[in-house]
Formats: sequence, C-alpha cells, structure tokens
Amino acid sequence: MTDNIFPVYDRMMTRSDRERLLHQRGMMVWFTGLSGSGKTTVALGVERELHQRGILCRILDGDNVRDGINRGLGFSAEDRRENIRRIAEVGRLMVDTGVVVLACFVSPTEDLRQMAREIIGADDFFEVYVSTPIEECERRDVKGLYRRARQGEVKNFTGISAPFEAPAHPALSIDTSALPLKESVGKVLELITAKQ
Ligand code: ADX
Repeated sequence: MTDNIFPVYDRMMTRSDRERLLHQRGMMVWFTGLSGSGKTTVALGVERELHQRGILCRILDGDNVRDGINRGLGFSAEDRRENIRRIAEVGRLMVDTGVVVLACFVSPTEDLRQMAREIIGADDFFEVYVSTPIEECERRDVKGLYRRARQGEVKNFTGISAPFEAPAHPALSIDTSALPLKESVGKVLELITAKQ
C-alpha cells in the first residue's frame, strides 16, 4: 500500500518550529461522555477563554465531523471505530501543527479511546470524562434522540441500546449536572494551561 509513496517529512518545518511560532504547545483534549452530557458546551466555553488568552485552538465535534469528512458513517461498532480513527488522524495533524484541539465525541468504549490515544500519542492526549448521569442527559434530551431511542426509532443509541464504558483513568472528570458551567470550564482550562 505504501509503494511509490515518498514522504518528505525530513524537509518540512518541524512541530517545534511551529510551536515556537505560535508560542504554545499543541495538545489533544479528548472529551468523552454520553450524548447530551455537555461535552460541546464545556468545550465552547474553553475555546472562548483560550482564544482570549491568545491560545489557538479548534473544536472537533461529532455532529459537525459526521456532516463532513465522516459523512456516511453510522453508529455500528465498525463505523464508530472508523469515525474515531479518522478524527484521531486529523487531530494528530492539528496537534502537530501546534494547535490545542478540543475533541468532543461520545467515543463510548475504552478500545476506541485507546486507539485515539495511540494515534495521537500518549504524551499529547488528555482525556476529559464528562460524567453527567444518563438520567440527566435523558432529561435534557436536547436533540430528542433519547425519546426516539426509547421508542426504538434510533438504533444502537449509546446508553440505551449500545454500551458506554466510563474511562478508568481520565485526566479529569466533570459532571455538568453537579458543577456550574463556569467551574467545569475552569477545570479544563487549568488542565490545559498547566501543560502549556
Ligand atoms: S461516536 O460514538 O462515534 O463517538 P459521535 O460523537 O461521533 O459518536 O456522534 C454522537 C452524536 O451523534 C450524538 O451526540 C447524537 O447527536 C448523534 N447520534 C445519532 N445517533 C446516535 C447513536 N445511535 N448513538 C449515539 N449518538 C447518536
């Protein structure tokens, strides 16, 4: 498969060149949690704060990515795997560019997150578990998907008819039903700025 391919990495500017240019360190903050747990809401708050502090960052979010590079992928175990694999590869390029990436994906199993960690590199990968209980996610039901999943209209729905495995050792856990948004955002900011 790699026949006739001649990478030019040795002549390119390096990650450190880019990080020096940007005065920041590239990293991947990987939010995992149920649909409706608050991943994107927290990431949006973090993005705003980082931007104000002059740190270049980018949100990658399930609903957006699935409308673009991952259009056509569904929610079978196989498709979720390909979804996360492509996101991790794109994320790796962005981290290598020196960007702080905020990835918001359900990424429901340990092996999916482990794959992402391996692609991106453990030193650059920080897992944030948005641990909001399913009862609260279902109560919010922002997109009406829990109701439809209960009625059997949406198959393989995480937490209802497909599994979610809580991460064993996340860098950070936040329950958005117990913590005000500002505090959740603050915790993630601390995690990021400590590594800059
Ligand atoms: S992942 O499991 O492959 O990581 P991803 O984060 O990209 O999922 O997409 C999850 C989003 O897709 C949810 O927030 C929800 O809006 C929507 N969605 C639609 N169908 C499903 C489903 N069966 N399971 C989970 N999320 C779904």
